[in-house]
Amino acid sequence: MKVKAISPLLLQCDRGKIYLTSPRMPGRLRIKRQVAEILFALQEPQDQLTIGHPELSHEQTQSVIQTLISAGYILPADEAEQKTQTPHPWDVWGANAWNFHTQLKDAPFLRGASQEMEAYEARITSRVRPPNVREEDPETPVLLLPRVRSEMNVPFRSVLENRRTHRHFKEDRVGLDDFATLLHYSFAPMRFADSGVMGVQQLKSYASGGARHEAEFYIAVFNVHGVEAGTYRYDTIRHGLVPVEADLSRAAMERFTYDQGFFTTSSFGVVTTALTERMAWKYPHPRAYKLMLHNVGHLVQVFSMTASALGLGAAITGGFRDTEVENALRLEGSSEFPTFFMSCGVPELTPEGQPAVYRAPTRPTLS
Ligand SMILES: Cc1cc2nc3c(=O)[nH]c(=O)nc-3n(C[C@H](O)[C@H](O)[C@H](O)COP(=O)(O)O)c2cc1C
Repeated sequence: MKVKAISPLLLQCDRGKIYLTSPRMPGRLRIKRQVAEILFALQEPQDQLTIGHPELSHEQTQSVIQTLISAGYILPADEAEQKTQTPHPWDVWGANAWNFHTQLKDAPFLRGASQEMEAYEARITSRVRPPNVREEDPETPVLLLPRVRSEMNVPFRSVLENRRTHRHFKEDRVGLDDFATLLHYSFAPMRFADSGVMGVQQLKSYASGGARHEAEFYIAVFNVHGVEAGTYRYDTIRHGLVPVEADLSRAAMERFTYDQGFFTTSSFGVVTTALTERMAWKYPHPRAYKLMLHNVGHLVQVFSMTASALGLGAAITGGFRDTEVENALRLEGSSEFPTFFMSCGVPELTPEGQPAVYRAPTRPTLS
């Protein structure tokens, strides 16, 4: 009989141990290297009796095959091919997403004063705590932004009802005070908290798992009153723009975001990155990655709502060419990487105040 390993199948190497996992099977199985190699060879259909391994006798190999058949990891070749046996959504999202999903599950959560908590604190404080904010060289020039705040007199209800994604902008310049107000309320700290061994933490308008505020903000200025076009980093503490040697021109931002048109007429763009060391220090667990993605969603929503309250519009996207952005921003190593893109400007509106391209349903439908 021709047999084949099921697909998708993942071999996870974790602290010197090898595990087998698949969305088609519950749990995961710890296996030996030789078993992994047999499974690897069985990515292609093979006659069950001819399968061999240089380190195992024929009987041993057949015993492994039988065990894997009983466990469901090896099937008759035609059955193993059947995609329909992979439960949704993993049939379309695939092995990488499954791996991400399973590896980040069931994080240990420590509560209250306990020995475990003490051990955890001792463990994290044995390493130097990365600064909670980026430490700028005092010699680096900074364009300090106005500390006046634009009025935002629209009722909160109106912001909830009218925040929309705007993908079409007028070529109007955004005023300096509005620009500064938007950066301040979206990204800068509102208060600070003394958090003991965690240091002085920033408290911002958006919640952030762990309050380590790993997000950094690169600003691509195209058409903002009183600010030279160029690429900057927003210094959240000094409330200013630090010039950065990187091409975040309209053309570059469009290329990075697959030419969706968000940056062709907008006033400025924002690229968020995650400075992961801040978070990894407090959360030395893979689930922190998931938390980091939640965090960026929170901040982008605040940006979008604040833009709306200021009469501006924001386009947002998580679809970008990661590697090209990393290269453009000269992000060193793999510890800081881009997480999101935002564009902002004066939106083109329909007479009803809706985004320029918006169609309300005119007929009843079921969905
Ligand atoms: C995580 C995320 C990613 C998004 N990516 C895109 C995108 O790549 N292109 C786009 O046109 N809109 C993008 N959007 C905007 C959504 O399409 C938009 O929020 C949705 O259509 C609902 O419209 P509304 O924001 O006006 O309520 C994204 C939104 C979120 C939250």
